[in-house]
Amino acid sequence: MDQTSIQTSDGEAATANTLKYMPGFGNDFETESLPGALPQGQNSPQKCNYGLYAEQLSGSPFTAPRGTNERSWLYRIRPSVRHTRRFSNASYPLWKTAPSFDEHSLPLGQLRWDPIPAPSEKLTFLEGVRTITTAGDATTQVGMSAHAYVFNEDMVDDYFFNADGELLIVPQLGAIRVFTEMGIMDVEPLEICLIPRGMMFKILKGGEQTVWRGYICENYGAKFTLPDRGPIGANCLANPRDFKTPVAAFEDKETPCRVHVKWCGKFYVTDIGHSPLDVVAWHGNYAPFKYDLRTFSPVGAIRFDHPDPSIFSVLTAPTEDAGTANVDFVIFPPRWLVAEHTFRPPWYHRNIMSEFMGLIHGQYDAKEEGFVPGGMSLHNMMLPHGPDALAFEKASNTELKPVKLDHTMAFMFETRYPQQLTKYAAELETLQDNYLECWDGLERKFDGTPGIK
Ligand SMILES: [Fe+2]
Repeated sequence: MDQTSIQTSDGEAATANTLKYMPGFGNDFETESLPGALPQGQNSPQKCNYGLYAEQLSGSPFTAPRGTNERSWLYRIRPSVRHTRRFSNASYPLWKTAPSFDEHSLPLGQLRWDPIPAPSEKLTFLEGVRTITTAGDATTQVGMSAHAYVFNEDMVDDYFFNADGELLIVPQLGAIRVFTEMGIMDVEPLEICLIPRGMMFKILKGGEQTVWRGYICENYGAKFTLPDRGPIGANCLANPRDFKTPVAAFEDKETPCRVHVKWCGKFYVTDIGHSPLDVVAWHGNYAPFKYDLRTFSPVGAIRFDHPDPSIFSVLTAPTEDAGTANVDFVIFPPRWLVAEHTFRPPWYHRNIMSEFMGLIHGQYDAKEEGFVPGGMSLHNMMLPHGPDALAFEKASNTELKPVKLDHTMAFMFETRYPQQLTKYAAELETLQDNYLECWDGLERKFDGTPGIK
């Protein structure tokens, strides 16, 4: 862990136990890590306390409607113009950005992978991002990409911001410490965090182990927000108070540092002489947050049939077409299955949306075998999928008493745009050759005579 002087609102060195968060989704927050650092009654005083510089970070156009208007005011040791100098070209060839049509020879199909291999070399988070799919076009702020990450080194003097979209990080193995311009978040498996577009950050290891692994949804489109609940009403699903935004924290470091940028799919790097994480106080509603997936209150069938998986949407990034998401983040959490005279797992289907899935832990109810924690699956636009033969037989013949589906957490990045497979994913050694065989046992039962078969 980086031991550089870190100030939090307590004036103490930050440790996992002292990190503090502010509850609420999209709130207008205010926080300061030194007393009096945050101006009161105005945004841009003639001179700021402590000699800080005032700076606005806009996540929406200035003129966006009030409901989607997002900006924060940052009070920092240096303005951001001092956090970049002349850029050099840089390369992270496994991090792809849409539009990207990698050359590979893998034909269309339903795909599934075991976890990506642990690295044999030292890798930071930034070096460990491996793109699996891209969709849409980052230059028009449309679409998303699905990445896996694996790393085993702290980003100590390396910092990154992504101009192409926000990053929704889903740790699967190992807790991570996310040190952003606006505060520090400790995020463990079964939690997620979101880093807004353009926000400087670095990621450090949490806990003791040899490899840290997870998934990322890079959202090029409108920001993730909470889905409307419709007739569900004012409660359940992801509740706003369970989203946690960090209090202000800064790193007072005057030593050589590197700032890396991804901008329209290209990487650049610049050398500076200090940490860019120098925001002493801030206020506003453009901010990172974390969320504990265990606080999601699922709503589902309490009589019969299986609702659409959208009932489990945690966050949605909308498009101009109502109900047609740029990307939804959906989870499949522990829950009771109580439906009568019902095939309880997800049904067989084809979908205009494209579905990238991961498994954080446990077992997913539509697959009896082969989909392992850390693994991934891709069911692209209009490709059929559903329970494997074993899951079908089990669910078709089980006694329908109430059952607790427990010790499980799968998720889906579901986008309206077809997902283009990267060469890395197409040639990944953990791609399962035999995935399609999971449906082989679904034999014809129809013989023209009526009756339950
Ligand atoms: Fe599906």
